[in-house]
Parts: sequence; C-alpha cells; structure tokens
Amino acid sequence: MDINTETNNDKKTGNSLNGTTKDQQSMSIEESVRLVAKGDVALIEWDLIGESANKMSSATMTRFKEVLEQVEENKDFKAAVIISRKKSIFMAGADINEIKSLKTKEDFSKAVEGGQEVVNFLEDMRVPVIVAIHGACMGGGCEMAIACDYRIATEDKATRIGLPEVLLGIIPGFGGCVRLPRLIGIEAAYDIILNGKAVDGKKAKRIGLVDKVVPVKELENEAMRMAHKIIKKKSGKRYKEFTGSGLQKKVINSNLMKGFVSNMAKKNVMKFTGGHYPAPLKAIEVIKKTYGLPRSQRDRALRIEREAFCEVAVTQVSKNLINVFFLREDVKKRNGVADASVKGHDVHTVGVLGAGTMGGGIAYAAADKGMFVRMKDIGQEAIDIGYQAAEKIWKKKLKRRRLSKYEFSEKKSRITGVLDYTGFDKLDVVIEAIVENMDIKKKVIGETASKVPADCIIATNTSSLSVNEMAKGHPNPANFVGMHFFNPVDKMPLVEVIRGEQSSDEATATIFNLAKKMGKVPVVVKDGPGFLVNRLLIPYLIEAAHFLQEGMDIQKVDDLYKKQFGMPMGPFHLLDEIGLDVGVKVSKIFRESLGERIEIPDTMVKLENSDRMGKKNKKGFYLWDENGKKGGVDTSIYSEFGLGTPTNPLTDEEIIGRGIYNMINEAATVLIEEKIVESPGELDLAMIMGTGFPPFRGGLLRYADTIGTQKICDDLEVFATKYGERLRPMQTLRTMAKTNRSFY
Ligand SMILES: NC(=O)c1ccc[n+]([C@@H]2O[C@H](COP(=O)([O-])OP(=O)(O)OC[C@H]3O[C@@H](n4cnc5c(N)ncnc54)[C@H](O)[C@@H]3O)[C@@H](O)[C@H]2O)c1
Repeated sequence: MDINTETNNDKKTGNSLNGTTKDQQSMSIEESVRLVAKGDVALIEWDLIGESANKMSSATMTRFKEVLEQVEENKDFKAAVIISRKKSIFMAGADINEIKSLKTKEDFSKAVEGGQEVVNFLEDMRVPVIVAIHGACMGGGCEMAIACDYRIATEDKATRIGLPEVLLGIIPGFGGCVRLPRLIGIEAAYDIILNGKAVDGKKAKRIGLVDKVVPVKELENEAMRMAHKIIKKKSGKRYKEFTGSGLQKKVINSNLMKGFVSNMAKKNVMKFTGGHYPAPLKAIEVIKKTYGLPRSQRDRALRIEREAFCEVAVTQVSKNLINVFFLREDVKKRNGVADASVKGHDVHTVGVLGAGTMGGGIAYAAADKGMFVRMKDIGQEAIDIGYQAAEKIWKKKLKRRRLSKYEFSEKKSRITGVLDYTGFDKLDVVIEAIVENMDIKKKVIGETASKVPADCIIATNTSSLSVNEMAKGHPNPANFVGMHFFNPVDKMPLVEVIRGEQSSDEATATIFNLAKKMGKVPVVVKDGPGFLVNRLLIPYLIEAAHFLQEGMDIQKVDDLYKKQFGMPMGPFHLLDEIGLDVGVKVSKIFRESLGERIEIPDTMVKLENSDRMGKKNKKGFYLWDENGKKGGVDTSIYSEFGLGTPTNPLTDEEIIGRGIYNMINEAATVLIEEKIVESPGELDLAMIMGTGFPPFRGGLLRYADTIGTQKICDDLEVFATKYGERLRPMQTLRTMAKTNRSFY
C-alpha cells in the first residue's frame, strides 16, 4: 500500500537492513518515503528505515520520484508538503557510499542525470510544493528544497541548510549551482557553494533561501496552513528569482557584475586553497556560464553543471577528500577499544588540574559542550587567567552573534575554580595539565586519586612524558590514560588518547568518548616518545633547521611547504607558533630516545642560546607585532647565527623530499614495527587533524602511496649520503620497498 491516510510518526524506524530479504528491503524503501493524504494536500514524509539520517541514494530517489508521480496523477491533491520524520535531520545529502563506488565519468554522469531528473520533476510538478525543513538539510537535500515552490525552516539550532559538496572535492550536481544563485543572488550563492557552508534558519530567511522561519513545534502546522492558503488563493506555482534592490537591482543581471563578482570569488578561492582544490574553481566556471540563463535553457544549464561535476568527481583530490570524510565518520562510530560493547562512563563533570595555556582551553572545550568543570591550580591568579582565557573565546562568539547572552552566561557559569580539592569527590573525569615534570605530575596524580570517586578516570595532557611511567603515580593505573590535546585547544581538533599498558578498556573508551563529546577527533595511540603526531613532526621541524644551516632562505622554504605542498604554514612559521624554546627542548629529548635519527644542527644550538622564542616573545624566525600578528622574516637571524646571505643551494624537490619523506620514514616504523597506532587511516587522520597536513593529499601515508615506497626509499638513500645518516631509510621502509608494499 502506498498512500496512507494517517501519519506514520509512530512507526518503528530503527531496524537494520542487514539480514533482510529483497522484498523486505523494497518494503523498507517504500516506508522510507511515504505519501500520506491530508485532504487535498499530499504529505510526503522522508524517514529512511534503519538509518539515523535521510540520504539520497539511487533507491530512495527512485522511490521519491514514484511518490511524486502518484501526487501528480491524483487530481484530488492541490498542493504537496515535504517533511522529514527524523528527529533533527531533514536530509544528510547524497549517499557518499554510493558516490565512492562510482569510478568513471560515465558512471557519475548517469547518476547525476538521474538525480537531476527527479529534482526537475519536482520543480515541474502540477501542484505547488512546500518543503518544511528541520535539522540538517545538506547537499542534495538543499538542492531538493530550492527546487520546491516554497520553503519553511525552523529557527532551531539543529537547522542548517547548505551545500558542503566542495569539501568532498565535488560540486553541487542536482541543480545547486544553477538554482541557488537564481534564488538568492550570485554573491550569497558563492559564499555558500565555494565555502561548503551551511546557514541556520534565520540567516536562510535573511538571504531569501527560505520564506519563513518558525519554532519546531509549529513547522508541520505552518506548512499545512501555507498549503491551504495557496490552494485557497489559487496562487499556485512559483518561479522565484533574486532581484535585489536599489542599485543592486540595476546591475544584478549585467555581465559586468557577474564577471566582477566571479573574479573576486576566484581570487578568494586561490588565496585560501592555493589552487589545490579544483571543485570551487569548477563551481565558479559553472555559475559564470549558467547564471542569468532563461528558464527555457534549464536543460543546457544542468548539462553544464553535470559535465563539470563529472570532471571534478574523478580527480584524486575528490577521492582523497572522500577518504578523509570516511575516516572521520569511522571515529564517530567507534569507542576507541576493540570491544565495541564497552560504553565507558557518561561524563558530566570534569576536573582540570592546572589553569594554564592548556588547562584554560580544556576547561573551555568541556564547558562549551555542556559539562561542569572544576578547575584547580596552585594560585588564584592562575585560575583567573584560565577562566579569562575561556571567557575570551565565548566573548568573541557573543560578538559575532554565534551565542546569545543567555548562552554566554550559562556556559561561563559551568566553570568554577578552586585551590584545593573541593568538589573533586563528585567528578567523572580529571584531566591533568600542570607543569611538564614527571615527579610533580606523579605526586599530584596520586593525591588527586585519593580525592575522587574510585571509578573516576584521570587523564594526563602531557606532551612528552611517558604515560606508563606516570601511571605508577596512580594507585589503580587501570583508571589512568593519556589525553593529549593540541594548542590552541579551541581550534585544534585532534586529541591523542594514549592507552597505557595498564589502562582499562573502560578508561580508554571513557576518554575517547569524552573527546568526541568535546567536539574533538580522538585517535588512540600507544605510549612512546612524542606519541604519534609529535614523533613525526619533530624530525620534520629539525630538518628545517638543517635547511637554514645549509644556506636556505626561511621564506623560500616556508613558501614551498605552504603554497606548493599545501601545508597550513611552513616549518619555520610553525616553530615560531610552537615556541622555539619548546622546539629545541623536545628535539633534545627526542635525540636521547631516538638516537641518530635525530641530528641537532648548529642552528638549533644557536637558537637555544639566543633569546628567540617565537611568537610568544615576539622574536623568532619572523617579526611579530604587539598584537601577535606575523610580519616578514627577521633577516637579522642570518648574521646573528653567522650564516651570511642565503644562497639557496637546495632544489625544491630536495626540500619537500627531505621534510616529507623523513616523516614517512618515521611513520613506517611507528605504524608497522612499533604499532603506536593501529592503522594507516588513523595515522593519516591524526596528521590532518593535528598538523593540518593537506587533506587534499589524503594524509601522509595516502600521499606516500601515490609516490611509492621504492621511490621514497631511493630518494632517502641519496639524501642520507649527501646530507646525513638521519635521512637513511629505516628497516621497515626498506622492507616495504623491497616487497613492493604500500601503506593502504
Ligand atoms: N602548551 C602547549 O602547547 C602544550 C600542548 C600539549 C600539551 N601540553 C602539556 O600540557 C601541560 C600544561 O602545559 P601548559 O602549556 O598549559 O603550561 P602552563 O605553564 O601554561 O600551565 C601550567 C599550570 O599548572 C599550574 N600548576 C602547577 N603545579 C600545579 C599543581 N600541583 N596543581 C595544580 N596546578 C598546578 C601552574 O600554576 C600553571 O597555571 C604540560 O604537561 C604540557 O606538556 C602543552
């Protein structure tokens, strides 16, 4: 039976498709997009059976089309309303598993054409269609919505309407590039499409993306009311075009305007992506060609969009970005331990020891996500500084209207400071972020363990000390784990969860899930010098100091890594951000633990003896102003370190190769021999989230696989002979090359 006369709100939707027969599956699809007759209004409900989100797959789109046809054929229907029955999602977009399975341009073209046909059918329906949006309405969902006649959204925070395709290396292909600029104007459309952005209901209303915003509980009623009003007034179908106002109106459709705005958009894309991401540039091409075409030319416009989609969809960049997307999705489903049934504790209250740079950031991240935080330090002044650091971030959000005044004060009130252990007897988790000193940390951990409930998990944020050694300070090391945040905590998504030899499954899962609750991306690693990310990063940063020693220009090296390779910043800039004193200190610790893999050049010794600490004391490789803004290279460093004018003796290939292959060399050992991390995917995710390793390259090891272990080994052999044994390929990499093995 296809048409119901009652809503199916109460139908069970949680059963999995696994283990079902074909008949059951097709029934599930039928139930996933349902038609409910509401008098002369056809109510179309999306509720993908067995999934938490609605997705546009070939099966659901075929079913959707079927339902639309039924509405068309039944002349009793005078209007239609589309709504989702998921709690807080309208439509997640196209099924990315399906996109991943497509290989050739022909495959993509067929799939996109199918989707375009359904959306065109929707646009051309005899009856006016109103879409009622609550929750995420992304990609194909947004493209479906803009093909409808009227749009209503909820003012709820869960509502986000947008086109995130470029983040996966593709462009909107179900008419998004064609219809969105027509609906909201070229400038606002560029903002959404080129940045992969989503807007909330209120913003959507402001820019004309929706006609009305209402509270959640009003959504369905309002959509039905609107339908009846349209029927009554016989106002019927609508083809809405952005007209702008005033001067804007006059120039809006001129080619001059289109060219000017498009050129500006292109300049911006180039500035932010360095041209490494083809999708936004392709979207600009499509919009330039199709914006302003009359309605009669819709098929032509959509063909242009489809062809452009196929061009970017088959690129390696898109495949890499989709792989990264799945790595992130995988983390969402996991608990950080092999036994999927381990739940870990539900964390509501968090203690933070140390209210310094990291403690303040950690307190912010926990309180921001609704947890109550008790911050302890040894002095009131330190607590005040930690508290102010958190407050400063919320103030910025308040100023940008990302927070209401009420939310601002509510969030702030979740952090309280103490000088003793008051309240620690009620904590679920304590995160330690005090001075980097093993003896002090062990003592404080033991003391804390005696003040908290027996099942409270204590986690250390140490960046360089052994978690296994520190666990000796805890009377029950099963409840002790590493939780390594990156600086600045509010901006850096990665958290390394360091599972010590004695950490329990329960403790590891608790911290893994807590990191996710704090909005972070956790990766489980084993204890070892620098854990994972710093272990790979430090040899790379030391290599930069060798380049300087050998006569390279600081700016040239940084430009090469940033502009050509795509890192967020070059190694010298990164060292300035980290702190040159910290860089030198950690390098020396690494020299002790990793031996000849770490060769500290003279320039580093000179750094240690200089007063250059980087951004924090406004004196580093670069000039820094009072507000912490970076200027040009501080060229006085060349004479200060007795280096003379840079002669730039190294080729670009040598510079990139020595830095990146060095990391790959270390990564092979870390992954395969020492098993610090379980899979190449997790290593890649950690490098992307922790260092900004260019996502378009898919991660360090995905990149290594595109080069090949043999070539990397051969080049490292040459580098080692020319520049030092530290660059010699290690046994694991050599074996991989010999056996022609890749990382994935
Ligand atoms: N700064 C970074 O970039 C970074 C990154 C990752 C991890 N970490 C690690 O985080 C920890 C803290 O680093 P930070 O940069 O925030 O240091 P910080 O010096 O800014 O802050 C340390 C705070 O701990 C307090 N403190 C010292 N002894 C204490 C005690 N017994 N009880 C309570 N508080 C005490 C100090 O008063 C100070 O406020 C270190 O283990 C460090 O290795 C730092």
